[in-house]
Amino acid sequence: MSDWLSATAGPLHGEVRVPGDKSISHRAVMLAALAEGTSRISGFLEGEDTRATARAFAQMGVRIEAPQPSERIVHGVGLRGLRAPTGPIDCGNAGTGMRLLAGLLAGQAFDSTLIGDESLSRRPMYRVTGPLEAMGVRIESASNGLPPLKIRGNSELRGIDYEPPIASAQVKSAVLLAGLYAHGETLVREPHPTRDYTESMLSAFGWPIEFGPGWAKLSGNHRLRALDIEVPADFSSAAFFIVAATLVPGSEIILRDVGINPRRTGLLHALRAMGADIQGANTRAVGGEPVADLVVRHAPLHGIEVPLELVPDMIDEFPILFIAAAAANGTTRVRGAAELRIKESDRIAVMAEGLRELGIRVEETPDGAVIEGGKFSSGEAESAGDHRCAMSFAVAGLLARERVRIRDCANVATSFPGFMDLANGCGFRLERTP
Ligand code: S3P
Repeated sequence: MSDWLSATAGPLHGEVRVPGDKSISHRAVMLAALAEGTSRISGFLEGEDTRATARAFAQMGVRIEAPQPSERIVHGVGLRGLRAPTGPIDCGNAGTGMRLLAGLLAGQAFDSTLIGDESLSRRPMYRVTGPLEAMGVRIESASNGLPPLKIRGNSELRGIDYEPPIASAQVKSAVLLAGLYAHGETLVREPHPTRDYTESMLSAFGWPIEFGPGWAKLSGNHRLRALDIEVPADFSSAAFFIVAATLVPGSEIILRDVGINPRRTGLLHALRAMGADIQGANTRAVGGEPVADLVVRHAPLHGIEVPLELVPDMIDEFPILFIAAAAANGTTRVRGAAELRIKESDRIAVMAEGLRELGIRVEETPDGAVIEGGKFSSGEAESAGDHRCAMSFAVAGLLARERVRIRDCANVATSFPGFMDLANGCGFRLERTP
């Protein structure tokens, strides 16, 4: 088990380019594999999650070259060109990998099995298997709809008009990817708009699709044409540096090339409402996605009630928002975020427990928490193998009385390999325990 120590540190300074966006990297490999021709992906996230997705396609006969780190050349096999995998496909820790692959494998002429690590094996899959079964595929799961998923591929799927009960980009994407193989039209209407990378990337790869905030519509059996893709830096990885520079007095950090898709940047609105000083500069479009350099300077924060409508747009940022709230003046309330309980860990419970260990008063609620701002004492925080909780506690360590020990940090490599070096490069004092 890999533990980290994060020690109190002075002002943070520097320019940071965090690794490529995880959501976009997964989708880029998937669509490039199904396209006709050769696609080049630059800025690909070399994380365990996205590498597992690339391996899945290699297992199904797609040739993928890695000429240098963060670059992939994908020799697409066309929509119907995948081969039956020789064994189970291991999605590792990746919910996105498993749920999107389930959609895509539903329409194949072969059967497949998706497996995952201990954390992924506890995450609900019914949210995708339900609508996919309604489209005509049979999927066997373990009890309660948990992985592994045995997918009895059906190349004669039917389009669906689907309204997911929860706002989930993974569910929307799984249904749309199955819709590529379906007769007729597939329409997804969301209760709240979620990240639209699948829709915009399908369109960029030449698939006819209509979409807007909260809805998307496509019909099956068209073609994808190879495309070169530049992946922006992952906002969710930048978030740890945004909060760190905000909290540590005297800090100023520039984060380069950060993807600022509005469905991802709810944290910016929440932090600004708390008093943060975050400026966007050099805003531009990269591969159709809005990107900016973010300049973050220290500013004192005060607690807020996180607006409900921001929750889906910052769903991955609650662990680090909890740290910001714990260091703010006054009380922060989070509601409407029950989804956090079924992420890589139960993020409400893990963050509440870790913060209490560090001397912060936190009251858990079924769908959020009430956090009283205070001072971090030294202590130990259990990350429960959750990459985002581990990195969040590393930020808390910057302000702790002496240092914070963070348990079980190996999974940081799923989304942010190299976090420790980048963090130390701008002034963190983070080390692995001997
Ligand atoms: C993702 C969607 C979100 C997010 C996850 C990545 C995606 O999950 O939490 O980290 O790439 O589609 P949900 O769809 O479960 O909200």
